[in-house]
Amino acid sequence: MGCQYYAPCQNGATSFTVAIPKLTFGRGCLIEVGERIKQQQLKRVAVFTDINLLDTSIIATVKASLAASNVDFAIYHDIRIEPCNDTVTQAAAFYKAGKFDGAISVGGGSVIDTTKAALAVATHNVPIMDFFAPPVGTGKAVPGPLPYHIACPTTSGTGSESTSLSVLRVNELNTKFVVAHPWLLPDAALVDPANCDSLPANVVASTGFDLLCHALECYTSKAHTQWDEVSNPNARQLIQGANPFSDLFAPEALRIADQYLVRGVASQTDSEARDQLMWGATLAGIAFGNSGTHLPHAMSYGVTHLMHDITTRDYPNPEPFVPHGISVIVNAPSIFEYTASATPDRHLEAAQYLNADSQGATIKDAGEVLSKRLIQLMKDTHMPNGLRELGFTHDDIKPMAESSIRQKRAINNAPRESNLVDMENIYQSSMSYW
Ligand SMILES: [Fe+2]
Repeated sequence: MGCQYYAPCQNGATSFTVAIPKLTFGRGCLIEVGERIKQQQLKRVAVFTDINLLDTSIIATVKASLAASNVDFAIYHDIRIEPCNDTVTQAAAFYKAGKFDGAISVGGGSVIDTTKAALAVATHNVPIMDFFAPPVGTGKAVPGPLPYHIACPTTSGTGSESTSLSVLRVNELNTKFVVAHPWLLPDAALVDPANCDSLPANVVASTGFDLLCHALECYTSKAHTQWDEVSNPNARQLIQGANPFSDLFAPEALRIADQYLVRGVASQTDSEARDQLMWGATLAGIAFGNSGTHLPHAMSYGVTHLMHDITTRDYPNPEPFVPHGISVIVNAPSIFEYTASATPDRHLEAAQYLNADSQGATIKDAGEVLSKRLIQLMKDTHMPNGLRELGFTHDDIKPMAESSIRQKRAINNAPRESNLVDMENIYQSSMSYW
């Protein structure tokens, strides 16, 4: 399957780059953080987290471990869910003023993404806005290496510990954009499933669909050989398309999502399922960190841009909010029906990794088979039945498409081209599923 998908294309890429942090996985491994920092001969580190984690056993473990290793530290806990450019500016000011020589991020994607960007701003004295691609910013590259950073995820979905991306809301435009640069990749990650033991069901569901979509988008994204060859290695983009390396990880992440997502959501005490979801999130993070995502993530930005009067259970967020994983999965069944015609065999294989009912299905049915399986998983985990249940109406469709169409690189990583009208049609078919 792999070789044919990566057949050479005229002027197409012949190489791909792989980057992952030094990663430790296992229940209880968070306690290693102090020794990891000491090993790097760092004297004083910033611990970035959020207010909801501050008084938990997770931060207590980090504090005890650092103290036991005689590492000086200070904690910054003002990182909000859905971090914005101001969140980064303030976190960077804290880092700069504190005379630190390294950082530890402890939290979900919001905390890890903020830490990456804050280290870039603080180290190189560049305003965060400059790092966004035009027309949002000036598209400045991160000029050089960042201080040592250990990422410690506390949700089982984001994969941010394994990527060189930082997703941030730009206040002036009220929408999210991605800062991407190889220097943003954390140096190390401690992935401890025990951090997720107390996660409420809806958080496990949302982050679980994030991991599932990372793997699914990675596996179905355009082959890396279809992107243009670059003569300068520094010009090779992080969103580089599916490749033989990402193919090693995405299928296993999909199998894990199939086996354990419903179980992990149904029971807080099912530690086998929850540990496996953390492993699946790790695999999916490594996979999409080296391939990029495509339309489900691109089109999630329209959802989080236009959301209004929405409150979501289990998330401690006072403002209108659609959790990232929900904003991604809500359009996914319609999107994969749309993209399947471009690479039906890859879509059918992905559906089979998810244990979809494909008996008697032919290659022409790939989109429908995959879409049906996703809808069943959404039902089984009590996800909203499409955009309408999130409060969107027909009037929101055009503005959502106009917002999402700006995510050019991710859109171009999809196996099938899409324009504004195609996106409007996809949003329309995502209004409700059952
Ligand atoms: Fe994601």
